[in-house]
Amino acid sequence: MELIKNLKWRYAVKKYSDEQVSEDKVDQIVEAINLTASSCGIQPYRMFVITNPEVRQRLGEGSFNAQIHASSHLLVFAGFNEITSDYISDYVLMMEQQRNLENGALNVLKDTLIDYFSPQTTEQNTIWSDKQAYIGLGTALIAAAELKVDATPMEGLIRNCLMKF
Ligand SMILES: Cc1cc2nc3c(=O)[nH]c(=O)nc-3n(C[C@H](O)[C@H](O)[C@H](O)COP(=O)(O)O)c2cc1C
Repeated sequence: MELIKNLKWRYAVKKYSDEQVSEDKVDQIVEAINLTASSCGIQPYRMFVITNPEVRQRLGEGSFNAQIHASSHLLVFAGFNEITSDYISDYVLMMEQQRNLENGALNVLKDTLIDYFSPQTTEQNTIWSDKQAYIGLGTALIAAAELKVDATPMEGLIRNCLMKF
């Protein structure tokens, strides 16, 4: 299995060169993340590809991880704090359209999801969203290994900081 060979090649890189990862390879990694499973398919996170050196410098301030500013691309996974009814409605509508169903055909699913998520606290949503984001991170690492792209997983950006970009 080619994947095992590529995973044996993979390691958490500590020091990056100036070499830029091609946009084509980054696009493939992003696509792999997009195709990752998530609970209920809700994808309760967004992933930002950050190349701007100043932004990466700011994000890395106070961190021992020089990779934050030294890598060519920084992929930031930002989990949702809230799973709103509007978000669920849009998601279910998209499912209906993609499957050529009538509007409202998946109302039972929509209502079930809204009933489930409405009483959840911000903390519950945050923990759940972060778990889903970690699955995306795993996929990203595997995809990078397949493409022989160096990568370093890390965690710890303060929540909400992305809103200040
Ligand atoms: C969630 C997570 C957080 C990590 N945080 C860091 C980190 O902040 N800095 C770092 O250099 N490596 C970090 N790592 C990489 C691990 O230290 C590394 O994967 C582990 O030591 C095994 O080494 P390998 O990946 O090279 O096989 C992290 C890994 C994971 C999965």
